[in-house]
Amino acid sequence: MLGLKLKTDPRWVNIAEDNLGEILSDHAWCEQKAATNAINLIINNSEKEDLVTEMTKIAIEEMDHFRMVHDIIKARGFEFTRERKDDYVGLLTKFLKKDGSRDQSMIDRLLFAAMIEARSCERFKVLSENINDEELSQFYRELMISEANHYTTFLNFARKYGEREYVDNRWKQWIEYEESIIVNFGKKETIHG
Ligand SMILES: [Fe+2]
Ligand SMILES: [Fe+2]
Repeated sequence: MLGLKLKTDPRWVNIAEDNLGEILSDHAWCEQKAATNAINLIINNSEKEDLVTEMTKIAIEEMDHFRMVHDIIKARGFEFTRERKDDYVGLLTKFLKKDGSRDQSMIDRLLFAAMIEARSCERFKVLSENINDEELSQFYRELMISEANHYTTFLNFARKYGEREYVDNRWKQWIEYEESIIVNFGKKETIHG
């Protein structure tokens, strides 16, 4: 799915179901961080009008997702807990290019974002297909579609601003790197855990 090499073991959904409060809090944080990421792309690339326009839409959509998750947390009597470290995103961050031009760094930031959208989308799909909760199943199906669109937007911008061959090669490296880390995940009650 979306180029990902490894599928999440559906047994991860059992862990999520047993820790619904934790998974929802963690999910709310993911949405908030996705909005922040889109805003940072605006801050660092303000002269790119088309990018700024689309990142504005994404930031608003991610905050709307945040609002929806926060509403579910409140309606179910859970607490929106303090932020937990996202080890998966931490490991992805290590793969970001630290050298190179500003444009190259933007392209890597776009691929990094596409990667997180792809895996989040896959996790939402696994949740929607396996969770024993009609409301959440429907909710995660809707979010899955939205995050898949974000994935496409990020990847398309990388291809628009970068040389096609470079971007495709670099994307392949991202996919392979992601495979090498995700193999150790799928055991915790977080969206990327
Ligand atoms: Fe989202
Ligand atoms: Fe997204």
